[in-house]
Amino acid sequence: KVVAVIMVGGPTKGTRFRPLSFNTPKPLFPLAGQPMVHHPISACKRIPNLAQIFLIGFYEEREFTLYVSSISNELKIPVRYLKEDKPHGSAGGLYYFRNIIMEDNPSHIFLLNCDVCCSFPLTDMLGNFPVPCKTLYTYQYDSLNINQMLVSVEAHKRYSGMGTVLVSAESASQFGELVADPITKELLHYTEKPETFVSDLINCGVYVFTPDIFTAIQEVSTHREDQANLRHLSSFETLQSPTSRALPQDFVRLDQDILSPFAGKKQLYTYETMDFWEQIKTPGMSLKCSGLYLAQFRYTSPDLLAGGDGTKSASIVGDVYVHPSAKVHPTAKIGANVSISANVRVGAGVRLIGCIILDDVEVQENAVVINSIVGWKSSIGKWSRVQADGDYNAKLGITILGEAVIVEDEVVVINSIVLPNKTLNE
Ligand code: GDD
Repeated sequence: KVVAVIMVGGPTKGTRFRPLSFNTPKPLFPLAGQPMVHHPISACKRIPNLAQIFLIGFYEEREFTLYVSSISNELKIPVRYLKEDKPHGSAGGLYYFRNIIMEDNPSHIFLLNCDVCCSFPLTDMLGNFPVPCKTLYTYQYDSLNINQMLVSVEAHKRYSGMGTVLVSAESASQFGELVADPITKELLHYTEKPETFVSDLINCGVYVFTPDIFTAIQEVSTHREDQANLRHLSSFETLQSPTSRALPQDFVRLDQDILSPFAGKKQLYTYETMDFWEQIKTPGMSLKCSGLYLAQFRYTSPDLLAGGDGTKSASIVGDVYVHPSAKVHPTAKIGANVSISANVRVGAGVRLIGCIILDDVEVQENAVVINSIVGWKSSIGKWSRVQADGDYNAKLGITILGEAVIVEDEVVVINSIVLPNKTLNE
């Protein structure tokens, strides 16, 4: 058996996601019409012999109760939210719940960061192939590009280390932090967030471990406790590094405390994905990732894409999701990369391109929304325009309307972030 753990973090994190994270925990923010965490959960569902999925975080339990029970029913797999009493770090959180995670005596534990967007090739990472070949799909945002190729079976089970890290070659925007042996795929060197060139391989935040990971985390904790005791005895405490003094014994980071020291010791290996991969730290990236997941739906869940009766003949361009309760006027033109949530009303002649329209929004006649996220219960007046240039990495590259913003008729909002409950009337 195997189990999967998704690290969802908590309310002290995700500040870059404001104002969208004011009322909704970031992991539940919808991408392609589904909560962010839904995408890794559905990928976990495809792992053979999966016993349970755990979400570990320090958000209040009530924020996840409804979601966890509905997704458990929908996917028919136990999904449980485990709440930390305080942040324990990305490895410490896993260790804190080790007894619950090991209840089913799993041979392997998948560990996924919630805020990454990729195709989650989990079964491939484990290396459970009946024949020495596999199919590799490459999804691209605008156009379909399927590469089918044969690759050798090299993955976690064959490496027989403690863990395998999903990695991606991405040199353009940031420095890669890890070096892997090109032949054996062993992780040789790991530096967290380097400021100079180390490699062009980045850590995707998706791992598979054997239960030995718990012993490794335990060792870090014990070592830290020993150091704390030594410091206590030492009169030179002020000479100790501030970082080592500040960290509590049970706070263990996966990157600095596990991946860095265990690199080069034949314990950790890498598995490279050729598919899309992005981190979802900002609203701009959430809009980009919503588009990537919509494009993926073409292969995984085409029934979720609009184009049939759901939109009552509105004109659809590219990949679009429309919640069944939304009402879209037949003369509206929607897409590409548009996601429309529950109870939204879209009036006649409206044009929507590259946007996420959240629950209970009204977009009135002939309004235009481009490269924007429109917050819950907002209203956009007739002939208004809410738009941005669509640079997903720039701070004001998309326009965001917070919850319950009113844009009155014939008002133009460009490259702006509007905080909740504002009225723009001129
Ligand atoms: N439950 C819980 N408790 N989750 C946590 C905690 C904690 O104390 N601290 C972090 N997390 C979760 C975050 O919500 C996120 O999903 C994941 O653990 C990693 O968070 P960070 O440790 O803050 O790292 P990061 O996201 O800045 O970068 C890491 O992940 C990237 C890929 O997502 C690094 O490993 C990068 O190298 C990597 O590219």
